[in-house]
Amino acid sequence: MNQIPDVLFADQDFTTWLIVGASRGIGLEFVRQLLARDERIIATVREPWAGHASGLWGQAGSDHGRCQMYVCDVLSEQSIVNFVSQLTTIPNLKIDYVVINAGVLRYPNRATEFSFEEFAFHLHTNTIGPIITAQKLLQTNIPIGTIVFMSSDSGSAINFREIEDGFAAYAASKAALNMALRHMAAELKRKDDDTILLAMHPGEVATDMANINVSWQVEGIITPEESVRKMIDVIQSKGMQHSGTFWTYEDKLHPW
Ligand SMILES: NC(=O)c1ccc[n+]([C@@H]2O[C@H](COP(=O)([O-])OP(=O)(O)OC[C@H]3O[C@@H](n4cnc5c(N)ncnc54)[C@H](OP(=O)(O)O)[C@@H]3O)[C@@H](O)[C@H]2O)c1
Repeated sequence: MNQIPDVLFADQDFTTWLIVGASRGIGLEFVRQLLARDERIIATVREPWAGHASGLWGQAGSDHGRCQMYVCDVLSEQSIVNFVSQLTTIPNLKIDYVVINAGVLRYPNRATEFSFEEFAFHLHTNTIGPIITAQKLLQTNIPIGTIVFMSSDSGSAINFREIEDGFAAYAASKAALNMALRHMAAELKRKDDDTILLAMHPGEVATDMANINVSWQVEGIITPEESVRKMIDVIQSKGMQHSGTFWTYEDKLHPW
């Protein structure tokens, strides 16, 4: 959609981030903090002209040269393909960090109650869309340092959160994301591809997604500012030996 300026090209010394799902919440906070750190950002939204996406340009201010907006709806394979093919037209583009942040929680989503469509909606948005987005990016010639998938503690099979009534579809979709990304990381290692894949739990973050009335006490709610500030440090601290691992925003290894 936008002309990518020279500053995003690989022959120059700066860090480029791609944030998929940057219109609000954690994704928008990534853009805000990365701009403050003088990084270059490719940010995706679903509807660039909708009210919520204008928040992105509010953050970017006049500095659109360092923040380029593209359209990507992870519910649509065609949208993912169109977005990735636009990136491939940028000469010498390299992306240091990809954060696949897009996700949904339609609450409540109980396994004893949810419809076929509601379950599929969570799986399509939180599992299939993120994995296919990463796959399409990896199939290009664009050098990619690290791909981060925004997972959740709800998706941990070992730390099963029985208390989370109404989270069945969401938790299953994040557990499936975790399993698929572990396979993707193992496949990349077998192919000697040195892109690092990570899963992240961002904490219990005060965003639109968390603005629901649950029947249990949610402990330790943090701001998007704290979550993203800490996640950026965690993401940047990881090397190839960490590919296929799951981390919290506090840099603790999370059990799968
Ligand atoms: N908040 C928490 O406590 C928490 C905890 C654990 C994990 N997470 C995970 O963190 C990520 C961000 O969550 P958040 O709290 O920032 O939620 P949020 O405020 O609801 O934001 C969700 C983001 O995902 C985008 N999105 C939704 N469906 C999409 C689609 N089909 N294609 C592309 N983008 C789509 C939204 O775009 P639109 O504006 O177009 O809808 C929005 O930018 C999610 O993956 C979530 O599961 C959050």
